[in-house]
Amino acid sequence: NRILLVNGPNLNLLGAREPEIYGSDTLDDVVSRVERTASELGFAVRAVQSNHEGVLIDAIHAAREDCDAVVINPGAFTHTSVALRDALTGVHLPFVEVHISNVHAREPFRHHSYLSDVASCVIVGAGVQGYVFAVQRIAALLAS
Ligand code: DQA
Repeated sequence: NRILLVNGPNLNLLGAREPEIYGSDTLDDVVSRVERTASELGFAVRAVQSNHEGVLIDAIHAAREDCDAVVINPGAFTHTSVALRDALTGVHLPFVEVHISNVHAREPFRHHSYLSDVASCVIVGAGVQGYVFAVQRIAALLAS
């Protein structure tokens, strides 16, 4: 069993980027946490981060071959990308949408997501722990 972990634009800057909003953990720290939780639950992880929409879409398409579910923090593409939504619905893999910050307590343009209504679960405002919750949720979903 394998989970695809997708992080979108600017999440490579985690730890350095607006730490008052996103915390001090780096992307490597996030990937390690996800890998640890996933392995405890019997999952492997493929992690991808890109600042380019098409690279993220290609990774989601490739997951169709060998992954069971997706954990995705689409970054700002959350609020703009019909293409990412179509990629996720197109591969028919269950996915959990994660936002480190509470997007609903921020600027109005962050309140709408192109993904949330087709997500299995949406986790916002739990900090980087949200990624761990997402993996736990996927394990429960796939077991049921
Ligand atoms: C984010 C929230 C988005 O609005 C923002 O563009 C990000 C990160 C979050 O994890 O809180 O890049 O997805």
